[in-house]
Amino acid sequence: MDIEFVAAGAALSPKTALGRLVHEGVALDGALAQAVAASRFTGAKGQTLDVLAPAGVDAARLVLVGLGKAEAVDALGIEHAAAAAYSAVKASGLTTLRLELPDASAELAARAALGVRLGSYRFDKYRTKEPAEKKPSIVKAEIVAAGADAAFAAFAPLAALADAVSFTRDLVSEPPNVLYPAEFAARVKALESLGLEVEVLGEAEMMKLGMGSLLGVGQGSVRDSQLAILKWYGADDKKAQPVAFVGKGVCFDSGGISLKPAENMEDMKWDMGGAGAVAGLMHVLAGRKAKVNAIGILGLVENMPDGNAQRPGDVVTSMSGQTIEIINTDAEGRLVLADAIWYCQDRFKPKFMVDLATLTGAIIVALGNDLAGCYSNNEELAANLIAASNTEGEPLWRMPLPAQYDKNIDSMIADMKNTGGRPGGSITAAMFIQRFVNGVPWAHLDIASTAWKKPSSIPTSPEGATGYGVRLLNRMVAEKYEG
Ligand code: BES
Ligand code: MN
Ligand code: ZN
Repeated sequence: MDIEFVAAGAALSPKTALGRLVHEGVALDGALAQAVAASRFTGAKGQTLDVLAPAGVDAARLVLVGLGKAEAVDALGIEHAAAAAYSAVKASGLTTLRLELPDASAELAARAALGVRLGSYRFDKYRTKEPAEKKPSIVKAEIVAAGADAAFAAFAPLAALADAVSFTRDLVSEPPNVLYPAEFAARVKALESLGLEVEVLGEAEMMKLGMGSLLGVGQGSVRDSQLAILKWYGADDKKAQPVAFVGKGVCFDSGGISLKPAENMEDMKWDMGGAGAVAGLMHVLAGRKAKVNAIGILGLVENMPDGNAQRPGDVVTSMSGQTIEIINTDAEGRLVLADAIWYCQDRFKPKFMVDLATLTGAIIVALGNDLAGCYSNNEELAANLIAASNTEGEPLWRMPLPAQYDKNIDSMIADMKNTGGRPGGSITAAMFIQRFVNGVPWAHLDIASTAWKKPSSIPTSPEGATGYGVRLLNRMVAEKYEG
C-alpha cells in the first residue's frame, strides 16, 4: 500500500474513493444529509455508510465512517476508522482512497495511515486462482494533513511498525512445510540488512550448552531445532544492560507422542506466534533505530511423533541443571522456553526478560479470545506492559502466580514435571517457566488467545495472524526504556 499525505482540496485523480471520518451527530449538508437521512448512520463508532455518486462531491464514491462522540475519539479510534474506510471500498474497483479526518494534525493523519497499512494486510501468496475482481483494488491511500511533511515525519516510526507487524503476520501465516526452524532462522538472519546482529545455533551447539529440555522437543522431527539470537545495540552506550525478549517458536505442534486430535490441528502452524512477535519487535526496533540495547531469543523447534520422539515418562536435563519428567509431550512450549530463558539471562544479564508464547489452551478458557495473560514477578514491569497494551489496543490481563500451586509441578522422580493438571493450566505452565528465572525481573505473556483471529472484529487486524505483541512491546520500550 502506497501512503501519501496531501493538502485538503488537492485534486482527486480518477478512480478515487473518498473516505470521510465524522464525529457522532455532526451536521452534513446537501445531498449527503439526504443520504444519511435515508439510513441509520449517526456517526457512532464503527458505523459506515457507502454513498455512490454523491452529489456535490468530486469522487464517484464516498464512505462515511463514524468515530463516535468527538470528546471520546483517540488515536486508536482514528486507526480503526481509517481501516474501516479501507475495508468498505477495498474491492470497489477504485484504486485510491482519499481520507479526510475531522482533525488533520500530523499525529492523527499518521495514525490513520497506520490504520490503513495494518488493515490492508493480506497473505495471498499461495492463491493462484483468485479472480481479479475479488482481489483488493485499492493500492494507494492519500491522507489529508495540515502539513504533509510533518505528517510524513510522524508516520516514519509507524511505517517501521507496520512493516514489522506484517513481517510477523507473514511468519505466523506461512504453512509449516515452508516455515520450519531453519527457514525461520534464515528469515531472521535476513534482518541483518536492518542493522541487527543475528546468531543462529544448531543442535550440536545447543547440545554442548546442555539444552536437553529444548532439544527433547525437537527430537522426533527431521527438521533440526535452532536457537536464533537477535541483537540490537541502539543505545549510546553499547555496553549498557539490554532488555530481552524470548519467544516460543514451535513451527508445528502435533503434540508429539501425546498426539493432538485431528480437528483444527492445522492451527498449530501458528504455535510459533511468540517467536514471530519477538522477531517483529526486533524488526521495528532496528527499523526505527530505537535508542536501546535489546536482545531477542527464539527457540525454534518442530514437535512431531516419531520412532525417535520424546516419550511420556522420559526425564531430560535442562541447561539450568534442573531435571524434568515429561508427563505430556504436548506441553512442549514450556520445555523450549526453559532453556531459551536460562540461556538469555546467563549470557546477557538483561535488565528484564519478557517471554511470549502460545502456551496453553487454558488461557483461552480463562480469558476468552480477546485478552492475553500476563504473569510477572515484578510489579513495575507488569504495570509497564499493561499500560502499553492499553495504549496500543493489544489487550493484556494480569494473572496470578500463587505459591501454593507450585507443588502441582513437583515430580516423584525428577526436579519437576512438565504438566500440572487441568485446573489452572495456564498458571501452572507459567509457574513452570518461573522455575527457570534466576532473580531477573521477568514477565510471561500467554498469547494463545490472541496470536490468531478467526473471525476478527478488529479493523486493523484482518482475519488470520494478528502480530499480537509487536505493538505493545515496541510501545513499552519506546516509553520506558529508551534514551
Ligand atoms: N500450543 C499449545 C497451546 C495452544 C492450544 C495454543 C490451543 C493455541 C490453541 C500447547 O503446546 C499445548 O498443547 N498445551 C497443552 C498443555 C497441556 C498438555 C498441559 C494444552 O493447552 O492443552
Ligand atoms: Mn503442545
Ligand atoms: Zn505448543
